[in-house]
Amino acid sequence: EGGRAAALAIFVCIAAPGETASGAHDARDVAAGHGVAHDARAVRSIERWLALGSPAGRASSMDEDVDRVVTLRTTGSELAFEPARLSLETGTRVRLEYVNEGVLPHNFVLLKSEDDLDALGAAAYEAEATGYVPVDRADALIAYTALAPPGETVSVTFEVPAPGSYTFVCLFPGHYNVMLGTLRALNPARR
Ligand code: CU
Repeated sequence: EGGRAAALAIFVCIAAPGETASGAHDARDVAAGHGVAHDARAVRSIERWLALGSPAGRASSMDEDVDRVVTLRTTGSELAFEPARLSLETGTRVRLEYVNEGVLPHNFVLLKSEDDLDALGAAAYEAEATGYVPVDRADALIAYTALAPPGETVSVTFEVPAPGSYTFVCLFPGHYNVMLGTLRALNPARR
């Protein structure tokens, strides 16, 4: 399992924005050379994305008037959000800034229900034109950023939903099984 993730990381690293589609073929060779399986579906999806000019899509932002600014980041070749847990009061208007200090492209997608994770992860493979956000399933999403290339910051503003626990995820191909976090929406404090 770890080997598979490493192979995907190698692949995506080589096929990062700015690379040509031939980089994807090189990546297949790299993955094969490591003797580990890789996700052929992710390879095809990323090849299509490269052929389109690596579109970033766009964030689902509401108005810019916010109560809180929250920063998440990723560093190096990690497939992780830091922090991976957020706690915010329901109704808080948040600007979430996602700082990509990693070597791979990533996005931040907040789901209404974790039950949709597998379906959305699968749909994202076909969503290369919209920065790997399946916008035709927007009913299942609370908020999402554009795709952040390595070294860039993207943001989105949204209102923290009803009390409960919500999953956020990166939907770049090959990441959604591991690059996950949780937003706890808390009952507003009584004053
Ligand atoms: Cu990612």
